[in-house]
Amino acid sequence: MSDQDSKPPLIERRRVIKGLAAGSLLPLLGGNLLGCSDSDDTFIDDPGVAASFQHGVASGDALDNSVIIWTRATPAQPGLVRIRWEVATDESFEDVVASGDGTTTDEVDYTAKVDVTGLAAGTAYFYRFIVQDVSSPVGRTRTLPTGAVAATSFAVISCSNYPAGFFNVYREIANSDVDAVLHLGDYIYEYAVDGYASDRAEEFGRLSQPETEILSLSDYRTRYAQYRTDPDLQACHGAHPFYVVWDDHEITNDTWREGAENHQPDTEGDFDERVAVALQAWYEWLPIRPPSTNREVIYRQFQFGDLVDLLMLDTRLIGRDQQLSYAPFTSGGMIDLDAARAAINDSNRQLLGEEQNAWLKDRLTNSSTTWQVLGQQVLVGRYNLPAQILLALDPSNLGDDALAAGVAAVLASVAAKNTPEDQRTPEQQALLDSAIPYNLDAWDGYGFNRDDILTHAASVDARLVTLAGDTHNAWASQLRDTQGNVVGVEFAAPSVTSPGLEGALGADAAALFEAPLVTLIDDLIYTNISDRGWMRVTFTSDATTADWHYVSNIDSTTYTLMENRANSMTVSADDLLLG
Ligand SMILES: [Fe+2]
Repeated sequence: MSDQDSKPPLIERRRVIKGLAAGSLLPLLGGNLLGCSDSDDTFIDDPGVAASFQHGVASGDALDNSVIIWTRATPAQPGLVRIRWEVATDESFEDVVASGDGTTTDEVDYTAKVDVTGLAAGTAYFYRFIVQDVSSPVGRTRTLPTGAVAATSFAVISCSNYPAGFFNVYREIANSDVDAVLHLGDYIYEYAVDGYASDRAEEFGRLSQPETEILSLSDYRTRYAQYRTDPDLQACHGAHPFYVVWDDHEITNDTWREGAENHQPDTEGDFDERVAVALQAWYEWLPIRPPSTNREVIYRQFQFGDLVDLLMLDTRLIGRDQQLSYAPFTSGGMIDLDAARAAINDSNRQLLGEEQNAWLKDRLTNSSTTWQVLGQQVLVGRYNLPAQILLALDPSNLGDDALAAGVAAVLASVAAKNTPEDQRTPEQQALLDSAIPYNLDAWDGYGFNRDDILTHAASVDARLVTLAGDTHNAWASQLRDTQGNVVGVEFAAPSVTSPGLEGALGADAAALFEAPLVTLIDDLIYTNISDRGWMRVTFTSDATTADWHYVSNIDSTTYTLMENRANSMTVSADDLLLG
C-alpha cells in the first residue's frame, strides 16, 4: 500500500457535517440511557410524554461483559420521553441484574440505546424498556463467551429489501438457536416507491416510505422506521444480538469513498452531507456500539472465547476507491484483457484503505483463536468467467438476443473446460484464458488489496473464513493466493428478499446456469442463484460448516422451507479444503 500521499485524510476530518451536531450520538454512550441519571423523584415530578413501542427492541455488539440494547419510543406528542430499562436473567424479570433510566427526544428520532455493562460472559439475558406504565416487548440477548468454547453458530444475512417481499427469512432466523446474527449490509434500500424490486410492493402492502428516494435525515429515518414495523424483522431482533455493517444501500447504490453510482451531486446535493445523514440514521436505528471518535470507523473485533475471532469490516465507505468498469477497455466487441487486468490489479487501488488494512493484518497476526472470520460485504474470492460470457450478458442490455448469446458462450466455455487440456483447440484455450472477474464492485475489482490480505493471512497461519453478502445469491469457494495455494474459504449468504441472478436471467435460465458456473469458476464449489434464504455457519475446533436454508417464496407470509434446495459444506481446520 503506497498511496497514502494521494489520499485525503480520514473521512471524519474531511467531511463537513453541516446542520448536524457531529457528536449528537455520543450522549448515547455509557451505561445510562442517553447518559442521563434522573432520579425516581424526577420521574414522579415530570413523567415526560406518554409513548408506545411500535418498532420493537434490539440488541447487538455484545462483548464478554456488555451489550448494546435498543428501542424506539413513539411519543404521543412531541416532547421529552423518560424511559427506564431493565436487564434480567429471567424472562419474568424477577432477577434484574442491571437497570437505569434516561430520556430521548426528536434529536435522536426518539431512539434509545444503552451500553449495558457489568454482565457475565457467555450468558443469556432478557431486556425491556418502560415508559410510564407501558412496557416494550421483551428481548433476549447473549454476551460473548470466554475461555474454551466447543461450538458457536451465526446466522448470516444481507440484502433485505422491504418492497420486494415478506421477511420470511427473518422469521426463520428468529426461530433458530444461533448465538449471533451477522447482517452484512443492505439492511435498507434507498430507492423511490417505484424503484428497484418494487413491482409487487402495492400488492404486498409494502410500498416504500417516503415515496421519494431517500436523501435527507428525515427521509432515512422514515425508511428505517418503516422497515422496523415489520413483525418478522422485530422478532429477529428481539431473539438474537445483531452484529451489523453497512453496505452501499444504507447510503446509496455503489457507494465508494467519495461518491456513488446513485448519487448525482448536481441534483441531490453534496455527497458528504448525504453520507452524514445516512450514518446518523443508521446509528440511531441499529444496535451498534457507536465509536467514540470517528463514526465512519465500523471495523471492529468480537472474540468468541478460544474459538472464533470475528473481524467486521467496511469494504464500502472508508477506504474504497471508485469501481472500475470494462467499458474503457472494450471496443469492437473485444476487451483489452491485459489493460483491464493491469488496472484491476493496480497496487494503488484500495478497498479497505490504509488504516483498516493495517488494522486487519494486525488482528490476523495477533489472533489466538482457532478460526479467523471476516464479516464483510462483498465476495473475496476469484470469480472469473470467459470474457465472451461477460460481453454477451451485459446486465444493462439483457434482451432475448443477449441471453441467447450468453447461453451459447456458456455452453462453448463449458465444452472447452471439459475438454482435456492437451485436446483443446487453440480457440477453446483462448476462450478459457480470457477469464476475467465478472464483478468489479467486489474484491475482484481490487486484486492487489485482496491478494495482500490473503498472502498475509497465510503467512500468519490464519484459518481464514470470509463471510459475504451483497450478491443476493449463495456461494462457497476456496480462497487461493496468487500462487494457487489454498489459504481459506468463503461462504456467502443469499438475500432476505432482493432478487438474485434469476431476476436478470429469468428463473429457468438461472437454474441452468448454476452447474456451469461451478464448472467455469475455478475456485467455486457451490452456488444457488435462484432462492432467498439465510446461511448458518457453525464453528467447532475441528471444522466450520455452512448450511444454506431457503424459503419457498417471499410473496406471502405462508411459505415452506425448501429441503430439496438446502445445502451444507464443511471445511476441516486441518486442511481448509471444502467438501
Ligand atoms: Fe443488495
